[in-house]
Amino acid sequence: MKNELPSDISQLLGGYSPDRFLALYWHKKPLLIRRAMPGLKPVVSKAELFSLAGRDEVESRMVARKGRAWSLKQGPFTMREMRAPRADRWTLLVQGVNLHCIEADELLRRFSFIPAARLDDLMVSWASDGGGVGPHFDSYDVFLLQASGRRRWRISMQRDHALLAGAPLKILRNFRHSEEYLLEAGDMLYLPPGCAHDGVAVGECMTYSIGFRAPSAQELARGLLEHLADSTERAGMFADPGLRPAKRNALLDDAYVNQAARLIGRLQPTRAQVADFLGRYLSEPKSNVFFDAPEPSLTRPAFSRAAARHGVWLDPKSRMLHRANTIYVNGEAVTPGLPLLRQLADARRLEAGAAPNAAALNLLYLWYTHGWLHPGRRT
Ligand code: SIN
Ligand code: CO
Repeated sequence: MKNELPSDISQLLGGYSPDRFLALYWHKKPLLIRRAMPGLKPVVSKAELFSLAGRDEVESRMVARKGRAWSLKQGPFTMREMRAPRADRWTLLVQGVNLHCIEADELLRRFSFIPAARLDDLMVSWASDGGGVGPHFDSYDVFLLQASGRRRWRISMQRDHALLAGAPLKILRNFRHSEEYLLEAGDMLYLPPGCAHDGVAVGECMTYSIGFRAPSAQELARGLLEHLADSTERAGMFADPGLRPAKRNALLDDAYVNQAARLIGRLQPTRAQVADFLGRYLSEPKSNVFFDAPEPSLTRPAFSRAAARHGVWLDPKSRMLHRANTIYVNGEAVTPGLPLLRQLADARRLEAGAAPNAAALNLLYLWYTHGWLHPGRRT
């Protein structure tokens, strides 16, 4: 379904400019935005969402509640599982809908005032009357956009983050809400990380979560060490020409440890190494993402003509960042990051007549053959 999204960013942010919104609310406090996207048409129907949840490469979950008992199942789900009549209150959550649906990708791009490196994905949930995932908190900022039907959100900035023992998902043990809002289609709620919330469907409803990513120190350190292991060579090798007979055969002695420590040296990455790691890491699609190569594919001259006439657009699954003279695309680094390619990364498209030079055209054609971008107009 084609959406007429409001062109006015301040409507999306409740009358605030991106500058003001970020200064006053981002990472700080919740904001309810009535009519953030008036007239919003769902980017997927219930049937399309259920069909996505049946696919292997799509991450989906089903959460149900019967009395005080919660249950959680991971997808993919059969239609029979999703369509069966049931007595409990339940919800289906589908992650990364923007990767499979152009309208969802377009909706996500409305939030491009936040750097692409911070953006995660669009999760869509469908809930039966009374359904929800229970009171919890997330570690990330989120915009909760009501897509269809109504949902009652209760929120709290409580410090008590103790969780219910034995539940299959994170449910707060003592949730005491301080605010309550009934969201109608087109309304949106921004929540900073750690803000406790509980959304209960009032009748069947669909909610979109525009999610952000914030890697932990542990995740970054592990990723960086793996990157350094693959991209750097250390000279030298253990040697012990002065070896003396062992007094205790199994002892790992100081001499060995000291020499190994000297060989390894200080593991202090340079800023350039950190930047290179980040560009690759943050542009790497998730492990369940696969691209479809064009079938049949255009020859290079035919691609070049199509690109000149209609421009090119990035596949929704493609992640592209740039920094200084390097372009990062789907986990790979390309230097020099030609200005036109940086433009493609920012706008996610090149307009007709963009006139790439031979080097840029070579890359565009290569990426086209991988299914990373497409010539023509987005349909
Ligand atoms: C939902 O859409 O039901 C869950 C969203 C959330 O609470 O983070
Ligand atoms: Co949440």
